[in-house]
Amino acid sequence: MNAPTLLVTGAAGFIGSHTVIELLTAGFQVVGVDNFSNSDAKAVDRIQALKTEVLDLRGVNFKFYKADVRDAKALEEIFKTHVVHGVIHFAGLKAVGESFEHPLAYWENNVGGTMSLLKVMQEQNVKNLVFSSSATVYGIPESLPIKEEASTHAFSPYGQTKLVCEHLLEDFAKANKDWNISLLRYFNPVGAHESGLIGELPNGVPNNLMPYVTQVAAGWRDQLSIFGSDYDTPDGTCIRDFIHVVDLASGHVAAVQAMLSNLETHPLNAPKFSINGLNIFNFGTGYGVSVKELVETFESVTGQKLKHAFVERRQGDVPAVFADARKAKEFLGWEAKKGVDQMCSDAWKWQLNLKQTEVKA
Ligand code: NAD
Ligand code: UD1
Repeated sequence: MNAPTLLVTGAAGFIGSHTVIELLTAGFQVVGVDNFSNSDAKAVDRIQALKTEVLDLRGVNFKFYKADVRDAKALEEIFKTHVVHGVIHFAGLKAVGESFEHPLAYWENNVGGTMSLLKVMQEQNVKNLVFSSSATVYGIPESLPIKEEASTHAFSPYGQTKLVCEHLLEDFAKANKDWNISLLRYFNPVGAHESGLIGELPNGVPNNLMPYVTQVAAGWRDQLSIFGSDYDTPDGTCIRDFIHVVDLASGHVAAVQAMLSNLETHPLNAPKFSINGLNIFNFGTGYGVSVKELVETFESVTGQKLKHAFVERRQGDVPAVFADARKAKEFLGWEAKKGVDQMCSDAWKWQLNLKQTEVKA
């Protein structure tokens, strides 16, 4: 009996690389695709090294192709070479600020890439898809914690592309009832694999909090600016639902296990959870942590003093965002387990493994 094969787009990226490792660990065969627009071949080497040398996962394969998901011919070739049972679609552009400057690139890549992939999947008769969405689709939340049924609203071209892809997949699922599609809305993924061998390496100056924190601690950047100290929150700084990237990755395994539960080739003989059709899940921890708390936790678990200053609010930031995470637990049997201390220590371990020459700007 062969284990099912999953095609992972954006496999060399932050969340993709961690998910590849968790899928292989769970017994899936994995085919990765990435065009390296926000990653490079070293990420693939790191995944292979972690798989084989550290985790000793020799019974499962990770085959990688450098390709763009908008290139339907290249995708077709990959689908013809491998018997693919399902796809996890991470590939896309994700910088909110940049999306205001280059909306066309965002629509073309995120919406065009999803359409191209969907067409090839349909032609090749592959009917299981996990799509990376974002908590950004909730806009300014009406109430907390945020439930999946909350209203949606996009504030940026990036957010628009995620919302439009969700709508496209909803329409598609209505017309194709034999498909299984999971829309996963991630909150704030941070941290790194506990080995410190894979992690997040944004191009240029990081926009997101955790990579900025680790780069300041490593002396790559002068100091952290904490955007806003006068929010209506207990300590005046914003509150977010930070989730360890390995927890997030294991949530993808739970989602595909449940979606593929009827396959004869399933590596688990009797998966406990089964989902069909289109499903939307929040992927968060269910609790909020303030920016100040995260900085203090980082300092205490790493022993690094973090030079920081409180500055003006960043335009577009929402005071508090955190998930109602109960649906994923009920329908997938998955919940995040790792705390902020581990998010900080693992992110730091990864940072210590990086050489300054790896920073691209
Ligand atoms: P990432 O940039 O690290 O990974 C995305 C990968 O996709 C990169 O390796 C990039 O080279 C590749 N890629 C981009 N366009 C491609 C294309 N057309 N063809 C092939 N490969 C392409 O980002 P990530 O943090 O791993 O995010 C993965 C997904 O999750 C994205 O869709 C993102 O929008 C979504 N998401 C991320 C976050 C977050 O905070 N990281 C939050 C919510 C949602
Ligand atoms: C942002 C995006 C979201 C995206 C996510 C991951 C917006 C509105 N949301 O979330 O769509 O999915 O990134 O890419 O842009 N902070 C600082 N100093 C810094 C960096 C951040 O104080 O140098 C603060 C921010 O003000 C915020 C918190 O840290 O309160 C988290 O910021 P960030 O990591 O950028 O994520 P979000 O803004 O929550």
